Amino acid sequence: MHGRTLTIVLALGLLLSGLSLLRLLATVHLPGNDQGYGPRQPIAYSHRLHAGDLEIPCLYCHSGAEKSRHAGVPSASVCMNCHRFVTAPMIDVRAEERRADAEGRKPALVVSPELRKLYDAVGFGADLRLDPTIEPRAIEWVRVHRVPDFVYFDHRPHVAAGIDCRRCHGAVEMMERVEQQESLSMGWCLSCHRTEHQQVDGRPMSASTDCSACHY
Ligand code: HEC
Ligand code: HEC
Ligand code: HEC
Ligand code: HEC
Ligand code: HEC
Repeated sequence: MHGRTLTIVLALGLLLSGLSLLRLLATVHLPGNDQGYGPRQPIAYSHRLHAGDLEIPCLYCHSGAEKSRHAGVPSASVCMNCHRFVTAPMIDVRAEERRADAEGRKPALVVSPELRKLYDAVGFGADLRLDPTIEPRAIEWVRVHRVPDFVYFDHRPHVAAGIDCRRCHGAVEMMERVEQQESLSMGWCLSCHRTEHQQVDGRPMSASTDCSACHY
């Protein structure tokens, strides 16, 4: 009798520690193996909608990729170029217009909950005007791709060589939420640097395989 209870207790304990280990593994950001890593973002911003359906060019929001080491994430003011006017999905706005029409009143302002977070960040009140009592704050986007500190990566030579964003980031314009597609390991960098001696857009390329090119 005692033996069986003990076995059950031990089995349960093992199961529970196994479960918490699994949970830990799911949250730990393992260095060097982040393929598939796609964290939740503070606003449910969709590349599939903006870069896919609306066809906004990548560089409209990530102009840094051409001009600096980092591609950069756009500030809220870039979003506001459109979202000063677009406050909710078109279907929701149309639905409210039809309801107002049937009820013989003026349509109310429709603000989607996700875009409300954007308006909070830029300090807009309920009437979507700048409210001096609301402190504007940066949106804390969660970084997805990152090479270790001892690696030097620069977007500029790659973009200048005509390498498409998709070669390294996958079909971002199909992603609801950005996810890391490639390993970003040394072998991954090198396998391209070794073979990319051919022509890129008719120009000869030779990417370095010297340790010092990528390591300080
Ligand atoms: C309207 C603005 C906008 C456009 C257009 C856009 N992006 Fe983004 N991008 C963002 C924002 C905001 C984030 C940060 C939130 C997120 O990860 O979704 C981001 C994040 C990313 C990331 C992840 C960055 C990281 O943390 O590692 C990649 C990669 C990326 N974008 C690539 C692209 C590519 C490729 C295109 C074109 C196909 C594109 N983006 C078009 C706004 C934009
Ligand atoms: C070039 C114009 C444009 C830019 C720039 C833009 N958006 Fe949008 N966005 C739209 C349009 C248009 C829609 C609505 C599409 C529809 O009718 O469903 C939309 C929809 C959204 C939605 C979905 C709202 C919902 O409830 O479904 C979110 C969230 C959003 N945008 C966030 C952002 C963020 C964050 C940025 C800046 C990084 C940004 N947008 C930049 C045009 C833009
Ligand atoms: C040769 C591969 C490669 C290409 C091409 C490339 N990227 Fe990246 N990207 C990376 C790597 C590697 C990182 C992580 C860099 C780091 O940790 O400093 C990164 C990081 C990013 C980030 C987040 C960090 C940052 O730099 O601000 C964004 C956003 C991004 N890329 C967007 C783009 C866009 C948009 C394009 C196309 C214009 C592009 N990338 C082309 C490899 C690439
Ligand atoms: C898809 C191919 C590809 C991948 C993947 C790639 N690179 Fe490159 N890289 C290139 C090309 C092409 C050049 C430009 C060579 C030139 O300008 O002649 C380049 C240039 C560079 C340079 C500038 C020095 C030089 O060789 O001209 C550095 C630094 C660099 N890459 C680092 C990296 C790192 C780090 C990674 C991985 C995180 C990486 N690259 C992944 C193709 C790639
Ligand atoms: C084209 C870019 C590139 C070149 C060239 C390069 N490395 Fe790396 N190296 C990387 C990247 C990216 C990482 C990070 C890999 C990871 O985290 O998985 C790395 C990681 C390392 C590490 C850490 C151990 C590890 O595997 O994580 C060592 C050591 C190293 N490199 C040594 C070298 C030496 C020695 C050379 C020259 C023979 C060299 N590297 C050339 C990109 C490069």
